[in-house]
Amino acid sequence: RIAGPCGLVIFGVTGDLSRKKLMPAIYDLANRGLLPPGFSLVGFARRDWADQDFGQVVYEAVKKHARTPFREAVWDRLAEGFRFVQGSFDDDAAFDKLAATVKELDELRGTSGNHAFYLSIPPGAFPVVTKQLARSGLAKANNPEEWRRVVIEKPFGHDLASAHQLNKVVNAVFPEESVFRIDHYLGKETVQNLLALRFANQLFEPIWNANYVDHVQITMAEDIGLGGRAGYYDGIGAARDVIQNHLLQLLALTAMEEPVSFRPGALRTEKIKVLEATKPVGPFGDTTARGQYAGGWQGGQKVPGLLQEEGFSKDSTTETYAAITLEVNTRRWAGVPFYLRTGKRLGRRVTEIAVVFKRAPHLPFDATATEELGQNALVVRVQPDEGMTLRFGSKVPGNSMEVRDVSMDFSYGHAFTEASPEAYERLILDVLLGEPSLFPVNKEVELSWEILEPVLKHWKSAGKPDSYPAGTWGPDSADKMLARDGRHWRRP
Ligand code: BG6
Repeated sequence: RIAGPCGLVIFGVTGDLSRKKLMPAIYDLANRGLLPPGFSLVGFARRDWADQDFGQVVYEAVKKHARTPFREAVWDRLAEGFRFVQGSFDDDAAFDKLAATVKELDELRGTSGNHAFYLSIPPGAFPVVTKQLARSGLAKANNPEEWRRVVIEKPFGHDLASAHQLNKVVNAVFPEESVFRIDHYLGKETVQNLLALRFANQLFEPIWNANYVDHVQITMAEDIGLGGRAGYYDGIGAARDVIQNHLLQLLALTAMEEPVSFRPGALRTEKIKVLEATKPVGPFGDTTARGQYAGGWQGGQKVPGLLQEEGFSKDSTTETYAAITLEVNTRRWAGVPFYLRTGKRLGRRVTEIAVVFKRAPHLPFDATATEELGQNALVVRVQPDEGMTLRFGSKVPGNSMEVRDVSMDFSYGHAFTEASPEAYERLILDVLLGEPSLFPVNKEVELSWEILEPVLKHWKSAGKPDSYPAGTWGPDSADKMLARDGRHWRRP
């Protein structure tokens, strides 16, 4: 579907996210013909820029990060709709100017009063910006045919209380149906495919429950460190940065019941039910792990530890690795642990959901024949090697009966020739279309904080995180955590 007449205003337009993700995504959408002809993009920031300077920044971002080929004609048409408004967030006059600019675009470009406001700014600035949008009249449509929407980026608070407060501030100006909270994992093709996998097939759903599933491991591992991100990350840590949002959303999609349809609301209803049933398992000293990377080797290069990275305080206790154990208290999942882990500077970059099945109740083989037989597993490879792996036992060729694990792979790259759109492309288009399914609502955000909060509280009083060398798979305590349950982490 192509978006109808509309424009987008970005606050925090000079930031990293804007250059690396938002600007390229907008160009790619235009290039695919999914934006309206008169689309407008307005940047708002403190820099002393003219429209042309802003255009140049977008140009460079597009040249560097866009996924689709550069086409002069597409660019020229898009760039005609670029405007820049200079100002700080507490500057009434700047917001009045923004309102005038938007109005002018309605007439000049035919954006027709339809505008989305993208807050790519720290959450501390949400109150002032939403208030300004209300004061300047920008937050409210002039008639029922027009729309105004606000897009907000995580972190949605740093605990339950602050998330609740943040939601209150935003909802005081924008009704919940006009609020689009970005969790970019939901825009990933492989994450959406989880729904296709589960609900378009007969094969998996009958065994997708506690009768057959032993446990679930959700992993998001990154090889990058935190150089340059101290301002955001120090004091936040891996659990708040990734588990609270991305990983709990992946858990919700893995564990939820079938939605009655894919109409907006239906998916959220099911996700909310699962999150309501999800609790951390204690005692947290045994069932969680926390680590901080020390110096080490990665990809043949020596890399510094977190405490040597620029901007981190020397006694920082911020965790760069977090693992937790959850239970989902429903008939489907009772007794099945969900292990979630994430970390920076790990062995390699990989995100996957592994559903690990129970062993066969009986093996009619000699004991030695199955020594190398593991548990069946279905692994959804979210990234980077998008696809799916089914692991099962097979006879080793030869005269004796010996069984060993083998894998059957499905790979996006082989099955489809179309390149999948970037997550931000999909999500920005959905904002402009007013399609809310892929955006978590305030209830989901708050429930996710509620799940995490007891663990965060425990960690706060538990001293420093354990250390792990960069380039490894996290602290020993993470391995011990699973070993206690007689299990082990997969090495993706
Ligand atoms: C962000 C986190 O939400 O996701 C980052 O704040 C992380 O710390 C990033 O690096 C990872 O996203 P992706 O799409 O590269 O897996």
